[in-house]
Amino acid sequence: MKKIIALVMALVIVALCGVACAEAAAPKIGITIYQFADNFMTLYREELVRYLTEDCGIPSENITIVDGKNDQAEQTNQIDGFIADNVDVMILNLVQSSSAASVIQKADAAGIPVVFINREPSAEDMALNGNFCYVGADARQSGTFQGQIIAETENKGDWNGNGVVDYVMIMGDPENVDAQYRTQFSIKALEDAGLKVNKLFEQRGDWDQTKGQELAATALSQFGNDIDVIFCNNDAMALGAYQAIVDAGRTVGQDIYLVGVDALDECQQMVNDGTMTGTVLNDHVGQSHTAADAALKAAKGETLEKYYWVDYVKVTK
Ligand code: BGC
Repeated sequence: MKKIIALVMALVIVALCGVACAEAAAPKIGITIYQFADNFMTLYREELVRYLTEDCGIPSENITIVDGKNDQAEQTNQIDGFIADNVDVMILNLVQSSSAASVIQKADAAGIPVVFINREPSAEDMALNGNFCYVGADARQSGTFQGQIIAETENKGDWNGNGVVDYVMIMGDPENVDAQYRTQFSIKALEDAGLKVNKLFEQRGDWDQTKGQELAATALSQFGNDIDVIFCNNDAMALGAYQAIVDAGRTVGQDIYLVGVDALDECQQMVNDGTMTGTVLNDHVGQSHTAADAALKAAKGETLEKYYWVDYVKVTK
C-alpha cells in the first residue's frame, strides 16, 4: 500500500512539474498595434494572436496586446510597461516609425528582443545595435503592381483619350514608407510602361475610409471627367473612394479606374464584380506568421536577421 501511495505521489509531482515547466517555457510577449480601428491591422492582429495561441501553443495569458490608438505618447507608455514587466519579446507596430531608434535603445538596454511589423523603421535605425528585426512587405512592389494593373488595361489608363493618364492619388499617412513608396512606385510603373502621366490631385487620407471618401469626392467635384484613375494607398480608402465615385455618377471600368492595396475580402469581391479595377494582396497571414516565428526564436535567445520579407501579390479579375 505504502508503495502505491509513493508511486501515486511521485506521478502527481511529475505531472505538476510538467505543467509548471511548460508554463515557464512559454515566453511572455508584449504586442502593441498602432491602431485597432485600422481595417488591415485588424486582420493582421487577429491572425497573429490566433497563430500564437492555436498553432504555436502560447497560453493566451502570456500575450498582452494593446491598442496604440494612433498616439505615439500612449504607445511609448505601453512599451515602457512591457519593459517594466520584463516580457521576453515585443512585437511592435509603431505609431510613428521615427520612434524606432529610442525603442531599440531601451529594449537593447533591457535585453529584450523586438520584432517591428508593418511600419518599417529607417535604414539608419535598422543599423543600430540590438536583437531586433523588421517583418514586412516591400512597399515598392505594391506600388509597382498598382501601376502595372492600370498600364495593362485596354485603354492603358486613358479614358478621356487625351494621351495622358490623369490621376488622383489618395495617400496613407506619409510618415509611413508604405504610403511614400506606393505613391511613388505606382506612377513610376506607368512611366516605365512608356505612359505619360498627369497628377491632378494628391492628398493624405491617413489609411482611413471616411477620409478616402471625402478626398475622392473633393477631387471628383474639382476635376470631374478629367480623372482617369483614382489610386489609393490602401483598400480602406479605396472603399471610401468607390462610394464617392458612385455618388458622382461615375462607373468603375466604364469611365474611371480605381485601385487599392491589401486585398480585403470585400475588395477582392469588388474586383471580381468589376467595381474595383484591382488591388494588391498585402499578405497579413504570411506577415503575422513570420513575425510570430521570429519573436519565438528571439525569445529563446536566437539572434534575428535584420529583415524578413513577405511578397505582395497582384489581384485583378
Ligand atoms: C496597409 C494599410 C494600413 C497600414 C497601417 C499598410 O501596409 O496597406 O491598409 O492602414 O499598413 O500601417
